[in-house]
Amino acid sequence: MTTLRTSVLPPLLTQNAVAKAQAVLALSLDLPIDASAQLAEPPGIPGRPNKPLLVHAKEIKQLPLVTTEGRAALLHALAHIELNAIDLALDVVWRFADMPEPFYLDWVRIAQEEALHFMLLRVHLVSIGHDYGDFPAHNTLWDIAEKTKGDVLARIALVPRLMEARGLDATPGVKNKLVSVRDLKGGKILDIIMKDEIGHVATGNHWYHWICAQRQLDPITTFADLLAQYSPPKLRPPFNLEARRLAGFLEEELQLLG
Ligand SMILES: [Fe+2]
Ligand SMILES: [Fe+2]
Repeated sequence: MTTLRTSVLPPLLTQNAVAKAQAVLALSLDLPIDASAQLAEPPGIPGRPNKPLLVHAKEIKQLPLVTTEGRAALLHALAHIELNAIDLALDVVWRFADMPEPFYLDWVRIAQEEALHFMLLRVHLVSIGHDYGDFPAHNTLWDIAEKTKGDVLARIALVPRLMEARGLDATPGVKNKLVSVRDLKGGKILDIIMKDEIGHVATGNHWYHWICAQRQLDPITTFADLLAQYSPPKLRPPFNLEARRLAGFLEEELQLLG
């Protein structure tokens, strides 16, 4: 029987990026969820196209944004983040059993918003003569998924609450860069992404606190412990405190950012 949790596996395994995004947008939220099922990991997660070539983050060159090539490279990097975000959201749904049903529905909806973000960026990229796969990309986001596959608390702490929250810090600056080279369409896409991403981080905060309460853990010290244990990429200022507040971070946490 297909359940909501098994229905995410075909798109997660799909290699073609556009076909993946379309399959995610076609997922039905009306399927039975079957929260208690322990599902075996199929080989090939996540399915990815042959291109882009994955390289170390340090090997990716920044090109001047005033050139079409430079702007395309930036849009490509953003599209790559969104493709990772699709897979990250889908992976939570099948992998982690015994969460409340709204948890799974939240992450399918998030995967659908990520699919929309990917499609918006990819269509824009195509409109300036490029496509997804044209530039090298890095695998930092999926590396964190791999590291945290054994514990839903670590996954939620380090993906939505750390990496997606980093996106909240960075997005306004990226939008300004695009607008400064008169890419108003790109700027509008980033406005949509920003609004949705506040929701994704808020969902991450909600479930992080829910799991901490269930395990009788202090959410503040636990987050510090998880950072020490998994050593993900460091947070870099400037922080978007307003967006982080909207996404449900506590004042105490904002102060700890420094
Ligand atoms: Fe996104
Ligand atoms: Fe997101």
